[in-house]
Parts: sequence; C-alpha cells; structure tokens
Amino acid sequence: MFEQKNVGIKRNVKKVCYLCILYIIHKKMRKFTYIACFVMLIATLVTSCGRKVVIENYAIIPQPAEMTIEKGSYTLSSSTRCYAGGVGQNDQSVKYIFAHLRQWHFNPILTGTRETNSLQLIINETPDNDLGDEGYTIDINKDGIVIAANTERGLFYGFQTFVQMLPEDISEVRYSKIQLPFCQIRDYPQYAWRGSHLDVSRHFFGVSQVKKHLDLMAQYKMNKFHWHLTDDHGWRIEISKYPLLNDIGSWRVDRDDQPWGEADAPREGEERSNGGYYTKAEIEEIVNYAAERYIDVIPEIDFPGHCCAVLEAYPQLACAGDDTTYTVQYGPYWPPRAILCAGNDSVMLFLKDIMDEIIPLFPCNYIHIGGDEAVKENWERCPRCKKRMKELKLNDYEQLQGWMVVEMENYLKGQGKKIIGWDEILDGGVSADATVMSWRGSEGGIKASQHGNDVIMTPLDYCYLNFYQANADFQPPAMPNSLVTLHKVYSFDPVAGMRTESQKKHVLGAQCNLWTEYINTPEMAEYMLLPRLCAMSEVLWSPIQNRQWEDFRSRVSRHRIRLEANDYRIGASSFKPWVTYEKNAEGATIATLHWEIEGTNIYYHTGDGNFKRYTGPFEVAKGSVITTISFYNGMLKEKAYELNVEK
Ligand code: ACM
Ligand code: ZN
Repeated sequence: MFEQKNVGIKRNVKKVCYLCILYIIHKKMRKFTYIACFVMLIATLVTSCGRKVVIENYAIIPQPAEMTIEKGSYTLSSSTRCYAGGVGQNDQSVKYIFAHLRQWHFNPILTGTRETNSLQLIINETPDNDLGDEGYTIDINKDGIVIAANTERGLFYGFQTFVQMLPEDISEVRYSKIQLPFCQIRDYPQYAWRGSHLDVSRHFFGVSQVKKHLDLMAQYKMNKFHWHLTDDHGWRIEISKYPLLNDIGSWRVDRDDQPWGEADAPREGEERSNGGYYTKAEIEEIVNYAAERYIDVIPEIDFPGHCCAVLEAYPQLACAGDDTTYTVQYGPYWPPRAILCAGNDSVMLFLKDIMDEIIPLFPCNYIHIGGDEAVKENWERCPRCKKRMKELKLNDYEQLQGWMVVEMENYLKGQGKKIIGWDEILDGGVSADATVMSWRGSEGGIKASQHGNDVIMTPLDYCYLNFYQANADFQPPAMPNSLVTLHKVYSFDPVAGMRTESQKKHVLGAQCNLWTEYINTPEMAEYMLLPRLCAMSEVLWSPIQNRQWEDFRSRVSRHRIRLEANDYRIGASSFKPWVTYEKNAEGATIATLHWEIEGTNIYYHTGDGNFKRYTGPFEVAKGSVITTISFYNGMLKEKAYELNVEK
C-alpha cells in the first residue's frame, strides 16, 4: 500500500544487471541467447553469494537515548567472527542472537578470544551504572561492532537495536556484506513497565498468534504482556477444578459474520463453534517464549464483573434473586450487570481456587484482578450481599468490592504475588501495595500516586489501540465514535499532571491496550497495533526531550517496510492534517500543516474555494478557516476538513 522509499540501501546487484542489459542492447549481438545465458549466470552467481549493501542512515524505534553517527563505515560480512565475552554461547540472549544471525545466513563463528574485526557481545566486567539492567551500548568503528551491557537483558535490547541497523528486508534477502556507518549508541529506558495488552476473550487468538505478538513486543523493547484471559465473551484458560469454565465458558455460537452489537441471539441447541482456551501446557509454552524475549506475562482474571462466561458455567455464583440466564455470546452486554455475588462464601473460594491454578503457571510477581465496570445493581437487591455489608459495617457497595479486592490481595500476598487492578478499585479503597492501572483517563493514576500507590498509565484517549486510528469512513469497523491517532499516542506523557517527584516515581510506566470486540483476525489485530505500538514503545523507552514527531514519522516509514517484510499488517494511519501557528517578524500569523504519513499530499484553501497544494508554511488571517483535503498515491484519503485559525 505504501511506497518503498528511503530504504537507505543500495543494491549493487541491480547495477550488474543493468550494465549487462545495456551491453546487449548496445552491441546488438546476434548471439543474443548466449549472452542472455551469460547474464543470467552472472546474476545467479551474484545473488547466490548474497547481496552487498551500503546502509546510509539508521531508523531506530524506539529512538536511543544517545546516538552519534560518524564518518566511515565498517563492513559486516557473512564470515564476520563473533565473540561473546562474559556470557556463554548457550546463555539465553546469545542463543537468541546467534539463531537470528544464522537465519539471515550470517555464520557467527565463535572465537575464544576478543579480537578486532568481529562482532562482539560483551557483558561489562565493571557495571556501567547509568545503563542499569536494560541498557546497552553499541560501538561500530573500524575494528568492528561491540554490543555491551551489564546484563544479558541489556545485550538482548542492544541486539534489537542492531537488527534495526541492518537492511529492512534482511529476513527475506540474503546479504553477504553490509556496510554500516560508524556509530556510537548509549541507550537505556525511561520506564520499567513497557506494556502491551491483548484481549483474547472477545476474540480468541491461538498460540502462534500470541507468539507473533510477543515477537513484535520484543522488537520494540516492550517487556510486559498483559493477557486479558477472562471476560463476558469467553473464558480462555484451562482450570482443572472447574471444567465447565472451559466446556461451556470458552465457547459461543459463531456470529463473526455479523456486526458486533447487531448479531442474532444464539438459538436453542445451536452449535458453539467459536472460541477456545489455552491448555496449561500452552500457557507454559507462551510464558517460556516470552521469558526468552525478556517479557513478563501478567494474567488477568477479571472479577467481580465481566463474568457472563463464569455465570453461564456456574450460575450458582450469581446473586440471590438474579434470575437472568447468562450466555456466552457475541456482542456487547451493556450495562454489564453480570456480577459475582459478594455475599456468597463460595465465590471467594472459587476465585482463590482459580488463583491456586494460575499462580504456578505465571512466574511474574503480578496478577491482574480486573475490577472494572462492575455494575452493582444485583448486589443492591441481593440479601446475601446486604448481609455481608452489614457484617463488615460497610457504607456502600463500592466498599463491598473493595473488601473482595483486599481479600484477594491478602490471599495472593501470602503466595508472593502483588495485585494490579483497573482504576475502579480505588473507589472501594485499596491497600498501599496495590498497583492501579489508570484507564478511564489519567485521573485515577494521579489520585493513586498521591496516595502512594504504584501506577500503570493506560488512559483510553492515548492508549486504546482498538480505537479508530483514522477517519472511520476510510477504516474497517472499530469501536464507534473513537479516535486515537498515531500522533496522539506519540504525544502521550505518562506523568502528565503529576505534580511532585514522588508522584512521578510511582508511575511504573504505561501500556497500550488492544480490546478485540471488533478485531476477529490476527491480521486485523496487527493492523490496529501497528504502527501505533511503535509510538508507544518510543513514549516508554526514549527520553521525552528526544521526541521529534517529523523524525519519528520518517522512521515509521522505514519500519513499515521492515514490518511488512516480516509479515505484519500495518494500519493506514490518519490522513487528517493538523495545524500549528507562529508569528513572523512582522507579527503576521504563519500556519504550518502537519500530517502522519510521509508522501501525503495536502490541498487547502482559506475561504476562496480554490484548493492549492500545500508546499510549506503560509500566512493566514486570524479567525479564518483552513479547509484541507488529503491525497495519497493519487487517491482521496481524507475528506474536506476545517481547521480554525485562532482569533
Ligand atoms: C476497560 O477498558 N474496561 C478496562
Ligand atoms: Zn449477592
């Protein structure tokens, strides 16, 4: 869909072919067939040995903290020797790195001694304190390439950067020589929590798709996979003690051919063919795969709301007097009234039993206990819930949820685990040890950090990648009336609104969330994630003062090529421009237009109806309206759009 521009490489093989063809035409030799064979032979020889390429500049996402390019270049060749110092060749990061180099037909020959003209992977003998556990340095000079770090994790991230210094199509094309500009990088992350969430309840994604998601995260140095395993639309993890969670709760009738929200209700006896769940063996496989990529997996078991799948399987866990027949089905449940009874002792026992099966599967010290959007109407009518309230001397039903959260927190604490909950858990009162995931905006996170709670920011207006990324008229269906553009994600500051340093210190980081009501294929999931996940990775890794939109936009163009070469689908970002103003020396207002995709052509007028092509900043009268339309590759990509000039 997008032009492959600015690839940053020169292909010498093309030159050989062009020269040969010119030679044939010029001489008009009769023995054309012989010459053609000769040309083909040369081309075959050249390609089988691998191409040579000159990298002209680097496009790294997330942008390293410090990076300088110097004059000169070092040529990495398929026979470059490789030295791993302070780390064995069977150690995790080195195994990963060597496997990738081999996949690209590089043959890392391990040398026992540190030598020049090699690729060196070094664990620092004396730790470089600024780099911490995740930072690294890369030095490319006449003597070779050195990737160094304090830890294997740091080496792994150094390698991810190094991969992005190689040609975009390295996974598809065999290269024998890659000429890399001299370069020095010192890099380390801004935030410890660099998360990506995937909802596998609304639509189920299989093991290989989850692994591909983890690969994407690793590439962009993201390290927390928040796995939303349970919700109204399907229970997705094997639980031995409660088999109906899987036999009933993991399946629904297939309505993927109908719009979400307008689907026919399930009919009596209709086959439930849509869904699935991960067996414990599969969970283990995914958790290990993630660990090889230095990613922690955080399971979410959402309670007390979002529990239709539980209540269809075990209706006895609903409130007394709730005679709703709950069914796992396609489409929204709104308002989400299904709720586990807080007055029924069996409910807490059930939840603790589930945690007993979850805990051994997930080594990460966090478990997400959900807590969002629990409508309490059924609690208000339930004699058991009322009795519990009275016994505990609670003032309201939010505190009743708070009691459940603290019960679970204490239970998990006893097993060495900490809880994370959506920001609603603040409404019922939480302990200072709970981590709050702020999603309804940033306010929950700000409030939690004031109380001394750790916070993960994921405000929906910056971080919900299930929202439209561009004008809905040009996009496949997504959450109605929603918009989170690439530029919006890139403008996110996880500590915005935090007044004190101590508040900011409680912000562990942030994450992007992919809810999958409208996302029913892995391709669509990638389309929604990319390129916005690239922006989130830079928000979380790179120093905020290094962020430069135009530069990022141009790096994203290069990453589109790289990602497509690795079989990822990438969304068509927004073609809607925005405007900034400056005053010139004479005091006139000068408008500059900005947009998301390189190569977009913007046409505009300021009231006379005569559209002209935007070529650069222009003077504009205060109070006027700039009307724009956007084209890409000659196709209309954004309809007439009005930008109001400030008065
Ligand atoms: C949420 O989006 N309900 C956390
Ligand atoms: Zn109840």
